[in-house]
Parts: sequence; structure tokens; C-alpha cells
Amino acid sequence: MNIAIDGPAGAGKSTVAKMVAGKLDYLYIDTGSMYRALAWAVLDQGLPIEDESVVSKLLKENDIRLRRVQGEQHVYWNNTDVTEWIRTPNVSQYASVVASYASVREQMLILQRNLAVQGKVVMDGRDIGTHVLPDAEVKIFLTASIQERAMRRWKELRDKGFDPNLAEMEQEIAERDQRDMNREVAPLRQAEDAILVDTTGMTIAQVAERILEICERVG
Ligand code: C5P
Repeated sequence: MNIAIDGPAGAGKSTVAKMVAGKLDYLYIDTGSMYRALAWAVLDQGLPIEDESVVSKLLKENDIRLRRVQGEQHVYWNNTDVTEWIRTPNVSQYASVVASYASVREQMLILQRNLAVQGKVVMDGRDIGTHVLPDAEVKIFLTASIQERAMRRWKELRDKGFDPNLAEMEQEIAERDQRDMNREVAPLRQAEDAILVDTTGMTIAQVAERILEICERVG
């Protein structure tokens, strides 16, 4: 069985997906981290983000790998562990720009499908149920109000030692949602056969419990 979890920024996908994967002893794959690693590299090398062919070539000529390090998923750009560097607001915005390029998404699709070939994966992202794993047995679309999603991201960044501004977070998330929902290739959308879970007012544990119940029904 494969489990696809999609939804907008800050809906709690990665935390919940990690918990569900842990409970079921499945492999957790965070596809957002792959777009973030590419965005990080564009920034790090000072390349023009607006040039699709430059960004696409950069991905073609380098490796993005996900590896487990002491039980946690880490993302590598070639041999560099970029896990800690890809969570900044700047990288978030750049990630949604590189993710709007068709030639980037084509390459990511292949990488992501390869990661899921052996089955038993919980994959989270924006287009998993609609494009990457259209045959996933369980498809969840996680959402929450924009205020709550901004608050969650704000706390996450604050806990990492940043000093985020809540109003800016809300605006940043709204912009990213717009870009993700309105792009031409694989926009953020609930798959027809996905189950909608609105996590507003729910704890992470409650959301994970709900998803596990859905998995039990299917499996
Ligand atoms: O999930 P996360 O916020 O880390 O994703 C960062 C960005 O990567 C998203 O805003 C989105 O533009 C892009 N993304 C995507 N498709 C995915 C996963 C992430 O377009 N499957």
C-alpha cells in the first residue's frame, strides 16, 4: 500500500506523514524537501531563478538524495547535507518558483516514483495523489485555515531560533498557495478520490489517528 498526502503549506503534512509512516513502519518521503534543495542550490550559486532552462540544467547535472540519518530524513545536494538550510522563508518562495517549471517537475516525477517503487511509502507534497502516485491506495488532502497554517509555520520557525513576523508568514503562505494552485503543470489540487481532512483545531495526534483509521479501512 502507498499513502499520498497532499495539501497547502503549513497544513501539517510532514509531521503527520512522519507519524503515520512511523506507526505503519513505512518509508516517509518529503517531496517538498527536494524542490527546496533545488531552490537552495539556485540561491547558493546565485543563478537566475527566472530562467527555467538554467534551473532545469542544474537539476539534471546534480543529485538530490534523501537519506535516513539517526532515524530522521535528511536531504542531500550531491554530498552536502542541506536539511537545515532549506527551511528559510526565502527558500520556501524560491521552491514554489522552481516547482512551477515543467522541465523541473518532469525530472522530480521520475526521482519520486523511483523512491516509491518498492511500495510501503507515505509521500507528502502537492501533486502526489494527482500525478506522482495516482494509484496510491490511500489519498489524503490535508488543509487548515490560513491563519492556523501561518501560526504553525511561525511557531516552527521561532522554535528553530528565527524571529518570524506572523503577518508576513500569512502573506508568504498565501502567495505560495496562489502560485502552487495556479501553475500550469500539476497544480495543487485535491485528487477526485482523495479524502479531505480539515485539520483546523485538531492536534497532530488526532490528525494522525484519523489517517490511520482511513488506512485501516482500506488495508
Ligand atoms: O511542502 P513544502 O512546503 O516543503 O514544499 C515547498 C514547495 O515545493 C511548495 O510550495 C511547492 O511549490 C513545491 N512542491 C510541489 N510539489 C510537491 C511538493 C512541493 O510543487 N509535490
